[in-house]
Amino acid sequence: MYLGVGALRSDGFHDLATAFFSVNLFEFVEVMPTDDFSVSFHGPVSTDDLTTDDDNLAIRAAKALAKAGGIETGVSIRVEKHLPVAGGMAGGSADAAATLVACNELWGLDLGREGLLELGAELGADVPFSLMGGIAIGTGRGDVLSPALNRGSFEWVLVTPGGELSTPVVFNELDAHRWRTSRDTGITVIEPIVPAQVLQALRLGDAQMLAEAMHNDLQAPALKLHPRLVGVLELGERLGALSGLVSGSGPTCALLCEDADAAKQLVKALASHGIQGQRVTGPVSGAKVVE
Ligand code: C5P
Repeated sequence: MYLGVGALRSDGFHDLATAFFSVNLFEFVEVMPTDDFSVSFHGPVSTDDLTTDDDNLAIRAAKALAKAGGIETGVSIRVEKHLPVAGGMAGGSADAAATLVACNELWGLDLGREGLLELGAELGADVPFSLMGGIAIGTGRGDVLSPALNRGSFEWVLVTPGGELSTPVVFNELDAHRWRTSRDTGITVIEPIVPAQVLQALRLGDAQMLAEAMHNDLQAPALKLHPRLVGVLELGERLGALSGLVSGSGPTCALLCEDADAAKQLVKALASHGIQGQRVTGPVSGAKVVE
């Protein structure tokens, strides 16, 4: 619920200072031993745009783990998707993290948390946090994590308006905007940090304080590329959310609520305006084996 973006680096990524927050909206991933690697998608979310070839992040995760563990067979990966595709909620990273955990178990590799985190970081900036869960501060590309102290849980309502936003396009829009303003004003990008007020709000479990401190540098470019999100955030706040924020590079919007009752009321109020909101809570654990 905090994302500060620094300068564009020579490797094409940006330095980040981010506070990752996990919520109880889960993907379910099953792996079955086969000779080859394949992935299939199921569940309530439209997955037509997802690639199922070797570029798919879950397949890349399984292959990377097989290579690291000296495994010469493959797996068929079945993903039951509940997170929107290209929604700014790291759904693809969650699938990759779950694939790593599941294959580690299937192949009896016992790679350990550190080993999986290292492999995860090579796959994508958000994969390590999907393994770890909870609430964490991310630096570097977002993959260098340290857990944040927190108390209690926080209540959110998620709204996923139609349309997709491509993460690199949103980062590019931010860079272009910064380039234009620095040319006009001479102001350059400073190194991002997660403000103390965010850490304190998490430590105290204080939703009001968090609402005042949360911020996303990618929000302005996301709103520019997808102007309908402005209306969603404004309506959410008018109908009772403490504050609303674009999640990651969007377009999912996360509306922070005072408590569970406020979140339930907000879902109802949004529905009366024809907008579907989903109540979620967190923090929760990262990818793990379930029966
Ligand atoms: O790590 P991930 O594969 O999710 O990143 C997708 C894209 O988002 C990257 O190719 C890059 O364009 C952008 N990105 C970035 N800086 C980061 C993370 C992502 O510029 N720290």
